[in-house]
Amino acid sequence: MNRGLFITATDTEVGKTFICGAITAALKGRGIYVGVVKPVASGGVYSSAGKLLSEDATFLMAAAGLGEDRRQAVNPVCLLPALTPAVAAIESGVTINTGLLENACRAMLAASEITLIEGVGGITAPIWQDYLVADSILALGLPAVIVARPNLGTINHTVLTAAYARQRGIKLAGIIINRWDEEQVTVLERSNLAYIERLTGLPVLGKFPSVSEVKQDRQAMEQLGKMAEQHLAMDRLIDLMSGGTDDASS
Ligand SMILES: Nc1ncnc2c1ncn2[C@@H]1O[C@H](COP(=O)(O)OP(=O)(O)OP(=O)(O)O)[C@@H](O)[C@H]1O
Ligand SMILES: [Mg+2]
Repeated sequence: MNRGLFITATDTEVGKTFICGAITAALKGRGIYVGVVKPVASGGVYSSAGKLLSEDATFLMAAAGLGEDRRQAVNPVCLLPALTPAVAAIESGVTINTGLLENACRAMLAASEITLIEGVGGITAPIWQDYLVADSILALGLPAVIVARPNLGTINHTVLTAAYARQRGIKLAGIIINRWDEEQVTVLERSNLAYIERLTGLPVLGKFPSVSEVKQDRQAMEQLGKMAEQHLAMDRLIDLMSGGTDDASS
């Protein structure tokens, strides 16, 4: 059986890549052969060699220890405009073949012990025409984790994301709160956490702190993996990747 997890979030810039990288590094630290996929990226940057690259894919490849030769398999489509992929593609004169994106994920799932897949934006971000991130999660049949912010506005974003996912029939593994800084949290963050748990009925699978600097060298990735072991429910996440879900409503 192909083991995998889809990482979505309540919004863009919430920490999908960072958390996906941290889980990947932790799995690698356990000696697991981990695959990563960022099926489609926008807001790509040109390398010094003039190649359009996804920085998210670069980070995930560093976390998984995959070389540059695997870039196409990790990130088959990278677009320049920092727009939702469906619009970035039109602006770039590109047609996105969603079947090709799904197949890239399936190929990585087949070739790896565990594969982590990062979406774009939030769960309803359009990838091509009316095909949304949610459609790719459903096509792959993987459980999804929602990465959420701890601060003001997060109850609404997280509850709506979970409700939409359930309405679409997506299996939800749980929620990870990113940038939870224990020594700084107040009644705001604590009550957000309590409400999110109560209103979604989903488990919070970890609260990841802020780090002072995000680096990509091997040592920094090992450290990130250790932080994931410390702050995330890694054993439970691995169980969920194998097909289980704690979502009572699914
Ligand atoms: N816990 C953290 N500590 C410090 N920096 C963080 C943390 N989480 C995320 N960041 C930084 O915040 C920024 C946004 O995070 P990230 O790129 O993971 O978000 P994303 O949800 O993947 O965004 P996108 O929708 O663009 O893919 C990045 O610069 C990342 O390095
Ligand atoms: Mg990202």
